[in-house]
Amino acid sequence: MAANPIELNPYANLSDAECRERIIAAKQTLGERLVILGHHYQRDEVFEHADFSGDSLKLSREAARSKAEFIVFCGVHFMAEVADILSRPEQTAILPDLSAGCSMADMADLDKVQRAWEELGQVLDPDTEVTPVTYINSDANLKAFCGDHGGVVCTSTNARTILEWSFSRRDKVLFFPDQHLGRNTGVRMDIPLEQMVVWDYDRPMGGLTEQQIRDARMILWKGFCSVHQMFKPVQIEQFRAEHPEGKVISHPESSFEVCQASDFVGSTEFIIQTIRDSAPGTHWLVGTELNLVNRLHNEMKAEGKTVQFMSPTVCMCSTMFRIDPQHLAWTLENLVEGHVVNAIRVPEATAASARVALDRMLEISS
Ligand code: 13P
Ligand code: SF4
Repeated sequence: MAANPIELNPYANLSDAECRERIIAAKQTLGERLVILGHHYQRDEVFEHADFSGDSLKLSREAARSKAEFIVFCGVHFMAEVADILSRPEQTAILPDLSAGCSMADMADLDKVQRAWEELGQVLDPDTEVTPVTYINSDANLKAFCGDHGGVVCTSTNARTILEWSFSRRDKVLFFPDQHLGRNTGVRMDIPLEQMVVWDYDRPMGGLTEQQIRDARMILWKGFCSVHQMFKPVQIEQFRAEHPEGKVISHPESSFEVCQASDFVGSTEFIIQTIRDSAPGTHWLVGTELNLVNRLHNEMKAEGKTVQFMSPTVCMCSTMFRIDPQHLAWTLENLVEGHVVNAIRVPEATAASARVALDRMLEISS
């Protein structure tokens, strides 16, 4: 065993092919001590090594049921945090590159959410009138906030079920950080647009009047995903003009207008299943991250289905892309040598409250 962790720098000079061989060898050595979880947005050279792939909900469940000593998460920071929170204390969640964050998750922080809660308290009694709901794309301390205030976590798969549960308990929902998932789900539940107001966290009282707050059913945080913002209704119009028989499917992080103009809206797992289940020859336009769309395009060719990316410009999740074969090889070879690098450890007090909100989600959407 090397005395110190192996350094990362030399791995930058390895080719993807060399890393591939080394990852396979390290996986073999580690055997059942290791599980690799891979989100659908991971690049192919990383994705191929995942023992389980999925959307955020599916991967949270895998993390909770895994018995492996090391859970290496090929995804982004909040996903590895969830793996740490839901796994047992003797297990270790690892993120191969610590800079793989989520720009949407960064749009809400505990100070701003606490301030919003206090400001809402000038108009209402939030603890009896408002359920805080955080999208899983958020920091652990926001999940903890929800756990401590009767709230819950949701993902793109279960947002509707979670909102129904929330409204059965309190009249209003404070939904963060993604306004689009909140609005797109609310509309499907027949909540009028004017009852879904946007909380601008840079302005006093979220930039809202007391009356707007009193009349609102959903208070939507002013957050968004920069990748899904690139999709526009005009891209759908052009596709429909060229392929009148084609189908359009989008992730609910896309704008209201894009989701309204789509035939189907759902999580990455839903997108994959819907396209896999479609008739041979179907032509698809897909509004979600490029690596997933390219993989689907290649997979579906054999069935005569065409899968086309919605935006004319390349827009991928640059933070997901930070997990590369070089970081994965470095992480696994350190584990073989007995060194844990890039462990994600959520402080226990935060983890305990966050677990309340995550367990609620898993129970409600089981
Ligand atoms: P899914 O849970 O649908 O995979 O979405 C995660 C995500 O970050 C989408 O941007
Ligand atoms: Fe975050 Fe958007 Fe990347 Fe998803 S696609 S991880 S929401 S930045």
